[in-house]
Amino acid sequence: MKITEKRKWPLMSNDSIARDDINEVVSFLSQEKIPILTNSKKVKEFEEKWSKWLGVKYTVFVNSGSSANQITMLALKELYGPGEIIVPPLTWVSDIAAVLQNEFTPVFCDINLNSLALDIKEIKKKINKKTRAIFLTHILGYNGITQELLDLCKKKKILLIEDVCESHGATFKGKKCGSFGLISNFSFYYAHHMSSIEGGVVCTNDEKIYQYARMFRSHGMVRECTNEEIRGDYIKKYNDLNPDFIFCAPAHNMRSTEINAVLGLSQLKKLNKNNKIRRDNLRIFLKNLNRKKYFTDFDQTGNSNYAFTLLLKNKDFEMRDRVEEKLREENIEFRRGMSGGGNQLMQPYLKKLFSNEYLNYPNANYVHHFGWYIGNYPDLEKDKILYLCKILNSL
Ligand SMILES: Cc1ncc(COP(=O)(O)O)c(C=O)c1O
Repeated sequence: MKITEKRKWPLMSNDSIARDDINEVVSFLSQEKIPILTNSKKVKEFEEKWSKWLGVKYTVFVNSGSSANQITMLALKELYGPGEIIVPPLTWVSDIAAVLQNEFTPVFCDINLNSLALDIKEIKKKINKKTRAIFLTHILGYNGITQELLDLCKKKKILLIEDVCESHGATFKGKKCGSFGLISNFSFYYAHHMSSIEGGVVCTNDEKIYQYARMFRSHGMVRECTNEEIRGDYIKKYNDLNPDFIFCAPAHNMRSTEINAVLGLSQLKKLNKNNKIRRDNLRIFLKNLNRKKYFTDFDQTGNSNYAFTLLLKNKDFEMRDRVEEKLREENIEFRRGMSGGGNQLMQPYLKKLFSNEYLNYPNANYVHHFGWYIGNYPDLEKDKILYLCKILNSL
């Protein structure tokens, strides 16, 4: 079996939003009385259902995962003040952008290869009195939480923030990632575990964070706050302002629409079932790869991958070229560098600030040069996965 033009293997199957999801949108829009389409009842319903699914008290639905990152750092700045934030070099640009744009100092720590997330040994070397938070990214469906990390955060009073944009449904000790940190972020961009076309959420158990996230989603507008005390304090303090127009911070509009929420509600119903298939697919993939040629020791405990992680066993540039040539020939889409294209410190926006600092992160650099991800979705046929392993093993 060759994967030809007809049997193309994209990063994400366009069936991720299916006919039944579209039908929900159509029936929502076909109501006799046209419903409110901006952020309203359906957004609220989605937020409640998502909180229940994740196991947290509060969710704020926004227009992207990047917006969730931005709102999270705005809330930290507002409620906890400046400081250093530990970040991985292997993450998405918006995590680092949110840290920088809110005037925190990013302190980079290398990852470990088994979870692809921040390495606790490296974190311990870099924390100090100025460390405000650890901004952990769960990479491509692997859980990045360890008991040691939770204990360290507790002992040193360091805030834990989780970026779960790539790992919906991953767990640590049976509890969902995104329910451990003070704040967690998810993305519902089309290529992820579930999609609202574009979208994201900020999740927390902390009332104050929730209220500020609500305000920051809507231009920093105090009237979005549903806590009478917080809202009342602003109104009292700024009594020469119209209470409808008090802006507590220089914020933006990051709201989503009712249509995104209707899609989100429909997709959420299928999330657990689809995650199970994705998990099974990854097991088949890693089990059938040649361990002498590829790194397969990813920690699959509690994983939930929407992509296959492919990493060369050796730092072999020729083999890297052969892999890419073969994948292109077979029409299999891939992304080198895994999450966010690899080591963020090599990107122009960080090279300007950190020059050659990227050289100090051997594991992130390893993944940057010798790692890829390939689409893993629920309707992927098993024989295709086996075929992929066969051609990779033949190189
Ligand atoms: C780890 C991580 N964080 C944040 C984001 C940003 O999400 P969005 O594309 O919805 O802005 C992504 C994007 O895919 C991501 O992978």
